[in-house]
Amino acid sequence: MSNLGKILINKKSCKSIWFMRQAGRYLPEFRKIRSLNKDFIKLCLNSELSSEITLQPIKRFNLDSAIIFSDILMVPYALGQNITFVKDQGPKLNKFNFEIFLDNNEKTFTKKLNPVYKAIELTRKKLDKKKSLISFIGAPWTLIIYMLNLKESKKNFNKAKFSNNKHDLDKILNTLVKYLSIHIDNQISSGADVVQIFDSWAGLIPEKNIKEFCYIPNAKIVEFCKEKKIPNICFPKGIKEKFKEFNRIVKPDGINIDIEINPSWAKKNLNDVVIQGGMDPMALLKTEKQMLEIATKYTETFHDIPYVFNLGHGLLPETDPDKVHSLINFYRNY
Ligand code: CP3
Repeated sequence: MSNLGKILINKKSCKSIWFMRQAGRYLPEFRKIRSLNKDFIKLCLNSELSSEITLQPIKRFNLDSAIIFSDILMVPYALGQNITFVKDQGPKLNKFNFEIFLDNNEKTFTKKLNPVYKAIELTRKKLDKKKSLISFIGAPWTLIIYMLNLKESKKNFNKAKFSNNKHDLDKILNTLVKYLSIHIDNQISSGADVVQIFDSWAGLIPEKNIKEFCYIPNAKIVEFCKEKKIPNICFPKGIKEKFKEFNRIVKPDGINIDIEINPSWAKKNLNDVVIQGGMDPMALLKTEKQMLEIATKYTETFHDIPYVFNLGHGLLPETDPDKVHSLINFYRNY
């Protein structure tokens, strides 16, 4: 079993470090490939390049885990919704069509994502056995935000559109749970050994709907992972003190805290789970001394319980790779 798998399953204290968005725009070797591959979805479907990009941060920093280079939006793509990435505007999805969505089946879905599975196979062959190969999905709510184009800004979403869709939403949620479980299963059979579930927009859910749109769908997916003995990490970003209730109801193996969560609060309130991450990615834009002071808050707080070093969100494109290096060295020497 990989080092990360062992920590998650045996809840054993052991050092482990990786970063969300570790393969990405802050790396010159990624930007080089990206500049030659303008279509982001096509790049994700190029198994050789996807594997090469996945291994870039491992070669550079010898991190403990690799996360497969892909995107949470590959699932809506495989379910028939075309996607384009507009520079500086993020992803744009074609108008959602309910009939097309319901007309999918496991075989065509898996076939469309075959290049992702092949990339995982290629990567596993090249990766040290002790290192984990992390697969991931977007949680249903976060995918719905993009699929129905519900987001108006960082803090708001279109509530009217959301309420008018009430009936369809249940069906969409359950169908997504089904295909996301298939996607997890396929990624694991191809050689991944851990799954991270990104609920990046959980913080937008109105209080009264959080159970229905966040806890229940995440719990169903975690339950599926547990039946299949797949080590899992949830990331319900932005739900503040509700991290506690989330953890109690969903019961994942690991939970990634975000930048709003105080590490001491997390240690006290998140029980029977391996805590991961938390540090603000902006810390890597400060001086090295300031960055390491912030990192110390996490290493000190969690030194006596199982903890996976990571951030409270992805590495920012403007991050200097040398800072990433010093943060890793600091952690390894701690
Ligand atoms: O972490 C990794 O290194 C693995 C690869 C990975 C990507 N996206 C590659 C990517 C992972 C795990 C994701 C997850 C993802 N994708 C999430 C959840 C995590 C989070 O950031 O909240 C979300 C919401 C998406 C959707 C998405 N993909 C957006 C909004 C964007 C554009 C803006 C942005 O954040 O970069 C992407 C594009 C994307 N996905 C890039 C990469 C490396 C940048 C592509 C580029 O422009 O070169």
